[in-house]
Amino acid sequence: MKFASVIAVVAAAASANAFTISAWSNTGYTGTQFQTSGTGTYNLGFTAKSYRWSSSGGDGCCIKFCNGSRETGYRCPAYSNSNVATANRFNKVVTGCGSTVLNC
Ligand SMILES: *[C@@H]1O[C@H](CO)[C@@H](O)[C@H](O)[C@H]1NC(C)=O
Repeated sequence: MKFASVIAVVAAAASANAFTISAWSNTGYTGTQFQTSGTGTYNLGFTAKSYRWSSSGGDGCCIKFCNGSRETGYRCPAYSNSNVATANRFNKVVTGCGSTVLNC
């Protein structure tokens, strides 16, 4: 019983941050690149026009895309976009898992 509990905790910890966001300053995954696998708020330093959100899905981790304090998108399952619509381009991302509230 105790052993099984330890396994469950280790498995949960290993899958907690199983995501990576990569964002690029130009379409088609080109230009300046930002990348992180961490949770929190990240200012890219540029306006991203393409991105890859790699996530195992079902792990409760999501990303919010922001232009300043304005939300431009939200994803949980893995998703890539080689040409983000002009109005949805973003210069900040907020990542989190579980009950974490993502605010731009
Ligand atoms: C982001 O916000 C700034 C300031 O409000 C605005 O000038 C710019 O057009 C916005 N960019 C996008 C992609 O919406």
